[in-house]
Amino acid sequence: MCQWHQTASHVTTSPWRATITAMEPDQPVVSLRGVDRSYREGDRTRVVLHGLDLDVQPGEWVALVGRSGCGKSTLLNLISGIDRPDSGDIRVNGSSITRLTERERTLFRRRNIGFVYQFFNLIPTLTVVENLLLPIELNRLDHARAYELLAAVGLEDRHASFPDRLSGGEQQRVAIARALAHDPLLLLADEPTGNLDSTTGDQMLRLMESLARTTRRALLMVTHSYDVARQADRVLTLENGRIVNKQAETD
Ligand SMILES: Nc1ncnc2c1ncn2[C@@H]1O[C@H](COP(=O)(O)OP(=O)(O)OP(=O)(O)O)[C@@H](O)[C@H]1O
Ligand SMILES: [Mg+2]
Repeated sequence: MCQWHQTASHVTTSPWRATITAMEPDQPVVSLRGVDRSYREGDRTRVVLHGLDLDVQPGEWVALVGRSGCGKSTLLNLISGIDRPDSGDIRVNGSSITRLTERERTLFRRRNIGFVYQFFNLIPTLTVVENLLLPIELNRLDHARAYELLAAVGLEDRHASFPDRLSGGEQQRVAIARALAHDPLLLLADEPTGNLDSTTGDQMLRLMESLARTTRRALLMVTHSYDVARQADRVLTLENGRIVNKQAETD
């Protein structure tokens, strides 16, 4: 398993780069206030998130559950800066990302967010190791990390394969390794063990959990699995556009 090292802090004035710097001990890694997101389809509007509030603290592992279509992936896309809310504020380590330009959000995401996408989103024209080297090179980190992480997910012998030659579970493990490659401040994981057997899934949970625990970063994980959710520090249920305070139900 890899050892996680906290990124050295450095001072900068840019708002999205400021979030790279030292962990702020007394503020949430993620904080959402009054977040709304709707989609328009023709002349109809579908309200997905409505007045949503959420905090995730340093070192915390939060599981997010809810019915299919309730807006879990939409929420992760907003926190990562891939998408923008219609209104409300989203802060990562104290800095608001809501008003950043698209380019600023891309830079912010590249440095600070690790994202295990629901459908992996591996780059098909790059080999397994090249998929990991992309975030590593963008952040000027050591190439050795790519091989360490492939070993940590049990795929060191597949480094030269292209993603379409891998099984679904193997692709999912590459996606997990890639999300961890640049030692992100926040790991967002969308059903990251849905394609894995329980033993391999547990190993991947430990790997993702270690990022949050050992460097007091944060892990926000969407899951439909009760066995996964119960291992988190908190389970939040998304329903009718908001986080509701009720006993988590998973399917
Ligand atoms: N680009 C879009 N345009 C229109 N509607 C969208 C768009 N993206 C998502 N939606 C709708 O928003 C709702 C929430 O979608 P989302 O993908 O966030 O659900 P989810 O909770 O992740 O579901 P699942 O558990 O099935 O992955 C769905 O009804 C979906 O159809
Ligand atoms: Mg989803």
